[in-house]
Amino acid sequence: MQTMAESPDLQLKPGELRLFQDLMYREAGIRMADAKHNLVQSRLRQRLDALGLASYRDYHSLVTSPGNEAEFQRCLEALTTNETFFFRHKQHWDCVLGQIIPEWKRTAAKGATFRAWSAASSTGEEPYSLAIALDAALDGTSHAARVEATDINTQVLARAKQGIYGSYALQKLTPQCLKKYFQPLPDGDRHQVRDTIRQMVEFRSHNLLQPSRGPAFDLILLRNVLIYFDSDSKHVVLGHIAARLKPGAWLILGGAETLSGRTSEFSYVQPATYRRN
Ligand SMILES: C[S@@+](CC[C@H](N)C(=O)[O-])C[C@H]1O[C@@H](n2cnc3c(N)ncnc32)[C@H](O)[C@@H]1O
Repeated sequence: MQTMAESPDLQLKPGELRLFQDLMYREAGIRMADAKHNLVQSRLRQRLDALGLASYRDYHSLVTSPGNEAEFQRCLEALTTNETFFFRHKQHWDCVLGQIIPEWKRTAAKGATFRAWSAASSTGEEPYSLAIALDAALDGTSHAARVEATDINTQVLARAKQGIYGSYALQKLTPQCLKKYFQPLPDGDRHQVRDTIRQMVEFRSHNLLQPSRGPAFDLILLRNVLIYFDSDSKHVVLGHIAARLKPGAWLILGGAETLSGRTSEFSYVQPATYRRN
């Protein structure tokens, strides 16, 4: 392997871009277009610099060789987009609070548990928003709620478990909500989600291309992740999702996302919102 000092030329060559495109598709189902060349180059460059490697091909060999799973995760983190914030996309939360939870409350047996899955939970803002919404709506009832939160990226999951956020993530919260559900940290800038809410959410790593097992859900949020998949991967992912929903249960996608043809298992309710048949 050359070292960086020997090779100042760190351009990502088309063949090297192809190696990472294939890797991301194989491992995460994510299609990275050729137009992402500059983004891939600049994000991976930081890893090459940190490791003192002289080419993107060397970095690819490293992350695909046995025993380097931690660096593979860093590569994945560099190449995926984890943008999120609390109560992102108001219409979805209006539906969760105004329709989905009230209807469930009316029909659920005494003492029943509402089960939800945030299926690409990133740094945790989405599953904690759901836990806050459920806590507020089910307070004073005999009902309980559990939120499962998964992501392929273990770095974002580690941050999610801490539940510490700055002003960008908290931008949509009312002062009352911030006070009730968050503990201000001594640095004055950041807040931590209170334990009552953190205890409602369980984080674990999961690749959406793989099936999963467990009790069926009343609601799955699969938001702002399908956009990274091609139609074959979407078909696989939506099949796994359909298998985890109770009949009549809800699926919410990102604002710009659709079922792209996988319609037999779901009924359309409103843009990005469906019910399991
Ligand atoms: C833009 S974030 C979406 C966060 C949140 N759902 C929202 O809408 O605010 C997309 C997340 O999808 C995750 N992701 C990408 N491919 C995945 C896969 N194959 N399986 C599970 N998660 C994946 C990324 O790691 C990233 O955290």
